[in-house]
Amino acid sequence: MPIFFDEKNKIFKLDTATSSYIFQVYDENYLIHLYYGARIPDFDLTDLAYRDGSASFSAAPAHIDDYYFSLDAFPQEYPCNGTGDMRLSALAIRNADGNAATDIRYVSHRIYDGKPALEGLPALYANSPDEAQTLELEALDAVTGAKVTLLYTVFNNTGAMTRSVRIENTSDRPMDLQRVYSACVDLPDMDYNMMHLYGKWVKERTLTTRPLSHGIQSIASKRGSSSHQHNPFVALAKKDASEDHGDVYGFNFVYSGNFAAEVEVDFNSTTRFLMGINSTDFCWRLEAGEHFTAPEVVMVFTPDGIGEMSRIFHRLYNNNLIRGRWKTEKRPLLINSWEAAYFDFDTDKLVSFAARAKEMGVEMLVMDDGWFGCRNDDTNSLGDWFVNEKKLPGGLSELIRRVNELGMKFGIWYEPEMISPDSDLYRAHPDWCLHVPDRARSLGHHQCVLDMTRQDVRDNIFEQMSAVLSNNKIDYLKWDFNRNITEAGSALLPPERQQEVFHRFVLGTYELMDRLTKAFPDLLIENCSGGGGRFDPGMLYFSPQIWCSDNTDPLERLTIQFGTSMCYPTSCVGAHVSANSRTGYVTKGNVAMSGSFGYELDPNKLTDEEKAIVRKQVADYHKYYNLTHFGDFYRLIAPTDNTFRCAWGHVAPDKSEALFTVVIIRCPESSAFPLRLKGLDPNKTYYCEALDLTRSGAALMNAGLNLTKMKQTDGESLALYFKAVEE
Ligand code: DGJ
Repeated sequence: MPIFFDEKNKIFKLDTATSSYIFQVYDENYLIHLYYGARIPDFDLTDLAYRDGSASFSAAPAHIDDYYFSLDAFPQEYPCNGTGDMRLSALAIRNADGNAATDIRYVSHRIYDGKPALEGLPALYANSPDEAQTLELEALDAVTGAKVTLLYTVFNNTGAMTRSVRIENTSDRPMDLQRVYSACVDLPDMDYNMMHLYGKWVKERTLTTRPLSHGIQSIASKRGSSSHQHNPFVALAKKDASEDHGDVYGFNFVYSGNFAAEVEVDFNSTTRFLMGINSTDFCWRLEAGEHFTAPEVVMVFTPDGIGEMSRIFHRLYNNNLIRGRWKTEKRPLLINSWEAAYFDFDTDKLVSFAARAKEMGVEMLVMDDGWFGCRNDDTNSLGDWFVNEKKLPGGLSELIRRVNELGMKFGIWYEPEMISPDSDLYRAHPDWCLHVPDRARSLGHHQCVLDMTRQDVRDNIFEQMSAVLSNNKIDYLKWDFNRNITEAGSALLPPERQQEVFHRFVLGTYELMDRLTKAFPDLLIENCSGGGGRFDPGMLYFSPQIWCSDNTDPLERLTIQFGTSMCYPTSCVGAHVSANSRTGYVTKGNVAMSGSFGYELDPNKLTDEEKAIVRKQVADYHKYYNLTHFGDFYRLIAPTDNTFRCAWGHVAPDKSEALFTVVIIRCPESSAFPLRLKGLDPNKTYYCEALDLTRSGAALMNAGLNLTKMKQTDGESLALYFKAVEE
């Protein structure tokens, strides 16, 4: 049983394979957090909660006869605003009297096998009831009647658990949720580095690390999506932790909208971590009897370093987040038309792409932006999801017939949540985009954002998409999203609900995606947002792959894919070989192979030599598919400013084979360096054909490879495949 309750001392203990998480129902039913860290046998750690709180000006609950007890100093399980804890709170509810003093106390709990779905939200799932166990703890704010259910699920065989929260208004008056974070973890010291992924368009998910310091440090998005700028991922790594050793906590938010991850180091030098929906521009009205469910946070702890944290996330997302046919079935190898043609294509050109690509073994043609309305650039037609017969005479059916005739599958591009002011849809429904009264509607890429909070809007888009998808043999859909949200208002909501728009927008998008995946279960969906602007676990729930970045230069991709690997499995990382870069095709392929591989170029323009390289890559794609999609990922050398190389590898779970990639970013000072491999079985012997080398796993991991003979110029690379052999 991974979840235990000690009745006598009222202590909860949640054990994953690598961690224990312990909290207590304290006097007056306060919920006090006791421990989160390496797995331990003990329960009663109450003494660990004591801190030097009474020395400050902190107020304390009047009835508790404990000189030291202070909400401002004790670690809290789910801290509330305005009643004693002066640190950042997880919950702030403005009640009908107008104040936001909030105070929840334990009432009851239940523990059961399995994991519940979260209403209207993507969430991890258990494949069978015995794979996970859930604790639902009910607490109550007796004054306001807010019933707060804290949800915890432990995944038995991994180091992961999830947390979320449900709030119900059991009073007969309205209340406003001003802040509902999904998880809080109070740690007893501040000896951590905060790791997170920052970026911008074409520079997504760059890893950065900073030591915690007193006060508040945070990352957030208020752009309406999880964003290019900050990914909803944070790790707190003990200062002595490294890639392969040491205590690391990883947090990832299963949500695609505005989020915040905040870390506060307080006057006792303890650390509070919080993650949830960004409370800026958020306020949710709960009428009597209504309830609200917050998205979930995935929490991973491992004592075995940053690399192991990543592998726990990867396995979990491959097994318990990604769904549907394409979770396990081999995905077709695609070629996308965007960088080959942009808006300038017709049926013949697309068919020529398909024909040339087919000759090299590619399996699917994806027609990107520009096939609908009268779209020849990005100034118009979003929302008019009917084919442009001037470009595609005979319509989609004729194009798809010709593509299929070649033996190729066919994919299509959509940007369902957007509307161009120059479109039939906008002319018919000018109030269907997000907007606020009397203010100009800001444009991004010449487009507005549809009001996805509205059922009529979602129905219209679904019906338009459904008509195309039902009447044509379409195997794949790229779902794009190309601007941030501004003027976040809805024409249908009353004033007191306007600050619900950002979250309702995300819920609306999820509902549309849910409808689509249910109606077309065989469709392979690839998410995208101007590259990787919405690369989050919420989107992974609906689409098993996400376009990683519009930057297809392999040397720059190293940094992006390296950062992405912190918590996202390579199976989901859309990575294509394109024509647009200074680096040769071998390295382009070697880097893209560590992802959901494909092409983004005009195959008519390839030389014979390049075509031969592509043919080899296609063969490698099939040979390495299981390794790159389901193998364990090991980072060997980070592409930072002071390294000249980057290296990583995929190792089969049974350690029978492995694929390592090493890339020279710029000419190193010395060509001599030992590349120590990771993840192999020390007792197995491996053969690498590319190096014609037979050696033990122990030697490969400890002595390493000597790659002095490798060409050491910028953009050179090697893909080294190792196979275990009988001695
Ligand atoms: C942004 C995407 O990232 C590109 O791959 C492409 O689909 C364009 N949008 C099309 O507008």
